[in-house]
Amino acid sequence: MSAYAQKVIDGLGPLPTHPNADPLRNPLDAFRLAIASQLSKGLELPLETVYEAVQTTSKLADFSVAFPRFKLKGKPNEHAERLAKEFKPDGYIAEAIVAGPFIHYKVDSSALTKLTLSTITDLSRGESSKELSGNAGSKGSIKSAYGHNASGSGKSMIIEFSSPNIAKPFHAGHLRSTIIGAFLANLYEANGWYVERWNYLGDWGKQFGLLAVGWDTNGDEAKLLEDPVTHLYEVYVAVNKAAEEDKTIHDKARDYFKRMEDGDPTALALWQKFRDLSIKKYEETYARLNIRFDVYSGESQVKKEYIQNALNQIKASDFVEKAENGAVLIDLTKYKLEKTVVERQDGTPLYITRDIGEAKQRWDRFVEQRGQGFDKMIYVVATQQDLHLAQFFKVLELMGHQWAQPSEGRLQHINFGMVLGMSSRKGTAVFLEHILDETKENMHNVMRQNDAKYAQVEDPEKTADVVGQSAVKIQDMAGKRINNYTFDWARMLSFEGDTGPFLQYNHVRLCSVERKNALEGLKLSEQVNPEEMATHLLSEPKARELIMHLASWPDVVRQALRDQQPSTIVSFAFRVTRTVSQAWEFLLVKGQEKDLALVRLWLYRCARDVLAAAMELLTLEPLQRM
Ligand code: ARG
Repeated sequence: MSAYAQKVIDGLGPLPTHPNADPLRNPLDAFRLAIASQLSKGLELPLETVYEAVQTTSKLADFSVAFPRFKLKGKPNEHAERLAKEFKPDGYIAEAIVAGPFIHYKVDSSALTKLTLSTITDLSRGESSKELSGNAGSKGSIKSAYGHNASGSGKSMIIEFSSPNIAKPFHAGHLRSTIIGAFLANLYEANGWYVERWNYLGDWGKQFGLLAVGWDTNGDEAKLLEDPVTHLYEVYVAVNKAAEEDKTIHDKARDYFKRMEDGDPTALALWQKFRDLSIKKYEETYARLNIRFDVYSGESQVKKEYIQNALNQIKASDFVEKAENGAVLIDLTKYKLEKTVVERQDGTPLYITRDIGEAKQRWDRFVEQRGQGFDKMIYVVATQQDLHLAQFFKVLELMGHQWAQPSEGRLQHINFGMVLGMSSRKGTAVFLEHILDETKENMHNVMRQNDAKYAQVEDPEKTADVVGQSAVKIQDMAGKRINNYTFDWARMLSFEGDTGPFLQYNHVRLCSVERKNALEGLKLSEQVNPEEMATHLLSEPKARELIMHLASWPDVVRQALRDQQPSTIVSFAFRVTRTVSQAWEFLLVKGQEKDLALVRLWLYRCARDVLAAAMELLTLEPLQRM
């Protein structure tokens, strides 16, 4: 809550309350309440009914209300006309313009400026998301709390994303899952949820028997320690090749994996080592991406009893079928989900069986650790696995788990389209680290093209890395999730257009305007007191436009939760940056009279804070200099 915002509201006049309105965090809510209050009186309708009718979609003004939705006696046009006539400007709303069955409202500019900039100033410093959600366990990674809300307070979730397979390439599907999943985790936290980030590794199965056999002939301890992810893949490729010639290798692999399944400590020790080293390496790479996990789970971590219980229950059910060869399968054709095998003829479980067991295991773990199950569990997996996810959700439902019933809305598959043309020079197999290295190198080359600027960059390596990753992430999140896109180096690394580098560049520029002016003696204090700022001087249309964008940030965070599209946040970030880059021309700081210069600096700082918050929500690391 913003104390300054409270003062502004006290000065403007009392507002009614509404459960969805939080005017001390979301400035636009104050204006919605003010409009709703007038409407409610004029139409003699409850505030609840009219509040939701106040929409921000107007091109003509700031808010619009469509009268037909009230289903009043008489013509909507006449009601609109009467209310527009009766309208009296209050501190919040300056003007009401009637247009047929609509009224368009213009917000009072002075109120908008004061309320928005005060709220940003108050909330961007100090207050944390943890305080907001009351979810002390959630290790929120977002620093700015302006934009956050408490709608998810008390709710908890698991979000599973990335989930690569040990000893196999980290393909584009994993990359997208990583980027989108990390974003969604931040988004739910920003909306007040308790969030656990889970990585469900492909870390079990016959391929680990194969890997162990290959290790004897091709393993290199030093290489393993140096880069486990790449080396295990090399060993894996080599052993698969060898197995084409030597058929006994597959038998050996099967035996080895059998020993692992039976819990043989020697067989498990090697696998454990591969797993631990791989996770350590993944963690480093994720850290480079500004991404982390709370739990490294995986196919190996599904307890035998959970798999067995699930299978027993399935076998006793009326939806089970036995194949001629003895395999156990479930017929989901009446749900248009085909048939799915849950137990092979040799009695071993499959990918889907583990997912079924794991889901229940996660539920129980939540109940045990937190006293209740999760309100949501999201799986961020490429659209290639749509059928798999739908099948295993359906099986959980048929098994009768209350939490898996679609009506509960807890289980959700977040899918996404393909990345076209992503390959690495180093071969067709792609590893996350190689992608990041290559991005960094390419970004570094782009930066070098501008000699003068490049000479001023303090740490070009680090800068190239951070900006390069912003490029990859923004390219990934700029479109609707379900769309495919083409991995386009030139486009994504450009400082122009809707790119990650453009966002970084604008953030840096917003940081540097303060630094430069401070050097020339014009210093905005760290703790701005909004009451001392000459807000009436921010009267230009460009200033208002920018402030309106900044005021809409809390709405954008709510909207993104509804549509679960990273592009909702990306588009917002570009609206802000485009407006800021136009504003430099109109809202000069240099050479202006002190009060005006300071209040403009303050506006730029608020823009910087909001832009940084949007970038952080998208998992970007906003740079101070570059
Ligand atoms: N490791 C799997 C793959 O690479 C993705 C795992 C998706 N999550 C799940 N619970 N099945 O294809």
